[in-house]
Amino acid sequence: MFNPQFLLLFLLFLSFLFIIPSPKHLQISLPDELDDVALFRRATLAALDAVSAKSKSSPKIAFLFLTNTDLHFAPLWEVFFRGHRRALYNIYVHADPSAAVSPPGGVFDGRFIAAKKTQRASPTLISAARRLLATALLDDPANSYFALVSQHCIPLHSFTYMYDFLFRHPVPGARLPSSLPLYRSFIEVSSIKPKLWDRYAARGKDVMLPEVPFNRFRAGSQFFTVTRQHAEVVVRDRRLWRKFKLPCYNMNSCYPEEHYFPTLLSMEDPDGCTGYTLTRVNWTGSVGGHPHTYRAAEVSPLLIHQLRQSNSTTYSFMFARKFSPDCLQPLLRLANLIFAD
Ligand SMILES: *[C@@H]1O[C@H](CO)[C@@H](O)[C@H](O)[C@H]1NC(C)=O
Ligand SMILES: *[C@@H]1O[C@H](CO)[C@@H](O)[C@H](O)[C@H]1NC(C)=O
Repeated sequence: MFNPQFLLLFLLFLSFLFIIPSPKHLQISLPDELDDVALFRRATLAALDAVSAKSKSSPKIAFLFLTNTDLHFAPLWEVFFRGHRRALYNIYVHADPSAAVSPPGGVFDGRFIAAKKTQRASPTLISAARRLLATALLDDPANSYFALVSQHCIPLHSFTYMYDFLFRHPVPGARLPSSLPLYRSFIEVSSIKPKLWDRYAARGKDVMLPEVPFNRFRAGSQFFTVTRQHAEVVVRDRRLWRKFKLPCYNMNSCYPEEHYFPTLLSMEDPDGCTGYTLTRVNWTGSVGGHPHTYRAAEVSPLLIHQLRQSNSTTYSFMFARKFSPDCLQPLLRLANLIFAD
């Protein structure tokens, strides 16, 4: 005689195999999710404690490297950071553990954080960015801006230029209560992307409701530079994450990491976002959702000059992507020019 409980479990198991279509992307396991929730909780509680204890040291930029390969531009970043004491910056690296990334040493020494597997077109990229933000929030109360970059990103200006741009010219606008000076986040926030509806409906037509109605759904670039207040908003969030962590069934329109951050920040603090990113990317002639990837032969002083230029007179791009590893030597030869300002 079958135990009825066993039969029920067995039927449930069968229904998982046959009825529920299996999503093609990496699922976040319960232990991984619980691990993250504990980390984000610690960061949120620490933020509450830190409200009164204003940091006395100079504000720092936290550079958050998200990678699933070796950091081939580590020698270029080394030049970028050279001569600047850790008093003004911190580095954190989230390297996909299944990729066996070799630590490049130098300024990256000891800066690898507890990481988990990531995969394109899956919410694991959101989790990895949130892990970086939470770790950096907890690590140093002086971290005031958080710049997310990938292994394919290069700096377009010197560290001093970037630091001055971020901290010497506070942009009024942030509304969140804070004892810190008011700064804004540099994140693209757009509602006019092509195929926005397909991207919204990639998990099913009504799945995002009620938390995210279509008219609040936003698109933006995956890479951003956000304020401490906004890093806290991201780490605290559970409401939108519940939706964005769901698997897509339409994999052709599945880019959760390009929607989660702009949607969340534009809902929580629209005036605190500039609406543009500091990371230049070339979508001309993109293939399969990948932007143009620069090769060594394309690297020139003119390219650096062109990549810096934005459509606005008030800012210049600070980072650019994507660059293939063979660009390292030509970029190093241009280092004096790139970091001259
Ligand atoms: C962008 O990429 C295209 C090729 O896809 C290239 O022709 C163009 O020069 C690039 N633009 C810049 C500013 O590098
Ligand atoms: C600048 O604006 C033009 C026209 O709107 C657009 O085609 C181009 O992609 C923009 N460039 C950047 C770097 O945003």
